[in-house]
Amino acid sequence: MGFSLLSLSQFLSSILFLFHFQTTISSSNHSSPSHSCAHDQSLSLLQFKASFSINSSASWDCQHPKTESWKEGTDCCLWDGVTCEMKTGVVTELNLACSLLYGTLHSNSTLFSLRHLRKLDLSANHFKSSHISPQFGQFSNLTHLNLSLSVFAGQVPSEISLLSKLVSLDLSANENASLDPISFDKLAQNLTQLRELGLSMVDMSLVAPDSLMNLSSSLSSLKLYYCRLQGKLPSSMGKLKHLRYLDLGWNNFTGSIPYDFEQLIELVSLRLSGNAYLSAEPVSLYRIVQNLTKLRELALDEVDMSLVAPDSLTNLSSSLSDLFLFNCGLQGKLPSSMGKLKHLRYLDLGWNNFTGSIPYDFEQLTELVSLHLSGNAYLSAEPVSLYKIVQNLTKLRELALDEVDMSLVAPNSLTNLSSSLSSLFLWGCGLQGKFPVEIPSSPRLVQQQLEWFYATMSGELQQHALSIASRHEQSSRHYTFNIFKG
Ligand SMILES: *[C@@H]1O[C@H](CO)[C@@H](O)[C@H](O)[C@H]1NC(C)=O
Ligand SMILES: *[C@@H]1O[C@H](CO)[C@@H](O)[C@H](O)[C@H]1NC(C)=O
Ligand SMILES: *[C@@H]1O[C@H](CO)[C@@H](O)[C@H](O)[C@H]1NC(C)=O
Ligand SMILES: *[C@@H]1O[C@H](CO)[C@@H](O)[C@H](O)[C@H]1NC(C)=O
Ligand SMILES: *[C@@H]1O[C@H](CO)[C@@H](O)[C@H](O)[C@H]1NC(C)=O
Ligand SMILES: *[C@@H]1O[C@H](CO)[C@@H](O)[C@H](O)[C@H]1NC(C)=O
Ligand SMILES: *[C@@H]1O[C@H](CO)[C@@H](O)[C@H](O)[C@H]1NC(C)=O
Ligand SMILES: *[C@@H]1O[C@H](CO)[C@@H](O)[C@H](O)[C@H]1NC(C)=O
Ligand SMILES: *[C@@H]1O[C@H](CO)[C@@H](O)[C@H](O)[C@H]1NC(C)=O
Ligand SMILES: *[C@@H]1O[C@H](CO)[C@@H](O)[C@H](O)[C@H]1NC(C)=O
Ligand SMILES: *[C@@H]1O[C@H](CO)[C@@H](O)[C@H](O)[C@H]1NC(C)=O
Ligand SMILES: *[C@@H]1O[C@H](CO)[C@@H](O)[C@H](O)[C@H]1NC(C)=O
Repeated sequence: MGFSLLSLSQFLSSILFLFHFQTTISSSNHSSPSHSCAHDQSLSLLQFKASFSINSSASWDCQHPKTESWKEGTDCCLWDGVTCEMKTGVVTELNLACSLLYGTLHSNSTLFSLRHLRKLDLSANHFKSSHISPQFGQFSNLTHLNLSLSVFAGQVPSEISLLSKLVSLDLSANENASLDPISFDKLAQNLTQLRELGLSMVDMSLVAPDSLMNLSSSLSSLKLYYCRLQGKLPSSMGKLKHLRYLDLGWNNFTGSIPYDFEQLIELVSLRLSGNAYLSAEPVSLYRIVQNLTKLRELALDEVDMSLVAPDSLTNLSSSLSDLFLFNCGLQGKLPSSMGKLKHLRYLDLGWNNFTGSIPYDFEQLTELVSLHLSGNAYLSAEPVSLYKIVQNLTKLRELALDEVDMSLVAPNSLTNLSSSLSSLFLWGCGLQGKFPVEIPSSPRLVQQQLEWFYATMSGELQQHALSIASRHEQSSRHYTFNIFKG
C-alpha cells in the first residue's frame, strides 16, 4: 500500500517534471533563453517559500518581502532575490535579507538542494530558534554566507568549516547561538579565504582567545562583539595584518593590550570597549597612536587607562573621526592640542577624572557632532572656552557637560549654541542666573531631554525647567549617563 502510493506519487511528479521541463525548453526559444530557470531549482524555491509565513514583525527595522514575487510558472531567475547562472539556469545567489520570513528552517528544507549557491543571505528574518543545520556544509561553492540577526539558536555546526571557499561569514546577533572550541578551531583552520568574519553575540565563552590567531591572515574584518570571550588578548594578533575593522568589545578580556597591535597598521576601526579588566599601558597606547595612522575610530570605553598621560592622545591619527574613551580612569589636564584632531565628529571623554579647564583649542574641532565631557567633576568650562565652543562648533547635535563646573558661565551665552543641537545635558554644572528662554524655543531641543532642572538656578528658570521636567518625567540621570555609550 505504502509502496504503491509512493510509486504513484513518483510517477506523477516525473510527469509533472517532464511537463515543466518541456515548457521551459520551448519557452526558452522565444523569450530570453539565457535566463530561464531550471525546473528543480524553481520547485525547491517554491517549497522553501511555502515553509515560511510572512510576518511583518520578523525583520526588525527592515522590510523587503522578496518571496512575494515568486510565482509558479514564471522564470525563477527573474524573481526578487534570485540570481542564476546564465548558461545552466541554476540558482547561484539567493538574497533574502529582511524578507519577513517567519518559521523553522529544518534540515530537510529544499533550500539545501540548491547546491550551486555561491552567495546566500538569510539575514534579518525570524527562524524561531532553528538550529543552524549541518546541511549548510553542503554548499561547497559558497563564498558568502549571512545568517545574522535571524533568531538561530544552538550550536553552530562544525560542518561550517567544510565551506572552504567562504570569503565572508556572518552569524552575528543570534543571541542564543554558540560556538564550541573545536568547531571554532576547524573553522579557523579551514576557512583560509575569509576576509570578513562576524560572530558578534554568539556565545564563544569556551573558545580560548589564543585560537583567534589561527584565523586566516587575509581577514580584513573581524567582529566579535559581546561573545563572552575571556582571558588575555592574543599576543600575536599582529599576524592578522590586513585587518581594517577589529571589534572585540564587550567581552571580558584581561591583562593589557599587547604591543604587537602596532603591527595592525591597516586598522581603520579598533573597538575594545567594555572590557573592564583590560588595560592600555602607556607603551602599548603609544604604539597604537604612532603606528595606526589610518584609524578613523578608536573605542576603548571602560578600558583602564589610568597610567596613560592624556597628552599622548593628541598624536592619534589626524584622520580620526570617532574617539570613545568613556570611563577609562584618565586623569590630568585635558590635552591643550586636541585641536589637531580636526576631523573628530564624535568625542566622548566622559566619566574620567580630567582636571583644569576645557582648552581653548576645542574651537578647532569644528566637525564635532557630539561632545561628551560629563562626569569630570574637577573639570571646568570657563566663559571664554565655552564661548568658543558655542561659536565655532556649528555642527553640534549633542553636548553633555554634566557635573563640569560652569559656575562662571552666564547662562545667556548658551543662547547661541548650534541650531542643530538636539541634546543638551548640563546636570549639576552650578549654572546660576536667569534662564535663557531662547534655548528651548528650538523645537528639536524641547523634544529631547533638557536637563537644566537640577542646575542651581533661580526663580524663573526653575519654573520653566519644572514644566519641561514634567514632560520628561522619566528622564532619569541613568539615561543621561548612558546615552553616548556607543
Ligand atoms: C529550440 O532551440 C533548439 C536549439 O536552438 C532547437 O533545436 C529546437 O528545435 C527549438 N525548439 C523550438 C520549439 O523551437
Ligand atoms: C510574528 O512574529 C512575532 C515575533 O517576531 C511572533 O511573536 C508572532 O507570534 C508572529 N505572528 C504570527 C502570526 O506568526
Ligand atoms: C521536515 O522535518 C520536520 C522536522 O523533523 C518535519 O516536521 C517535517 O514534516 C519535514 N518536512 C518534510 C517535507 O519532510
Ligand atoms: C563549483 O564551482 C566549480 C568551478 O566553478 C564548478 O565546476 C562546479 O560545478 C561547482 N559545483 C557546484 C555544486 O555548483
Ligand atoms: C549581514 O546582514 C546584515 C543584515 O542584513 C548586514 O547588516 C550585514 O552587513 C551583513 N554582513 C556582511 C558581512 O555583509
Ligand atoms: C576543510 O575543507 C575541505 C574542503 O571542503 C574538506 O574536505 C575538509 O574536510 C575540511 N576540513 C575540516 C576540518 O572541516
Ligand atoms: C534566548 O533564550 C532565552 C532563554 O531560553 C529566551 O528567553 C530568549 O527569548 C531567547 N532569545 C531569542 C531571540 O529567541
Ligand atoms: C593555533 O596556532 C597555535 C600557534 O600558532 C598552535 O600552537 C595551535 O596548535 C593552533 N591551533 C589549532 C587548533 O590549529
Ligand atoms: C571577568 O574577568 C575577571 C578577571 O579574571 C573576573 O574576576 C570576572 O569574574 C570576569 N567576569 C565575567 C562576567 O566573567
Ligand atoms: C611602529 O612605530 C615605531 C615608532 O614609530 C616603529 O619603530 C615601528 O617599526 C613601527 N612598527 C610597525 C609594525 O610599523
Ligand atoms: C581626581 O582628581 C582630583 C584632583 O586632582 C583628585 O583629588 C581626586 O582624588 C581624583 N579622583 C580620582 C577618583 O582619581
Ligand atoms: C572660532 O570662532 C572665532 C570667532 O567667531 C574665530 O575668530 C576663529 O577663527 C574660529 N576658529 C576656528 C578654528 O574656526
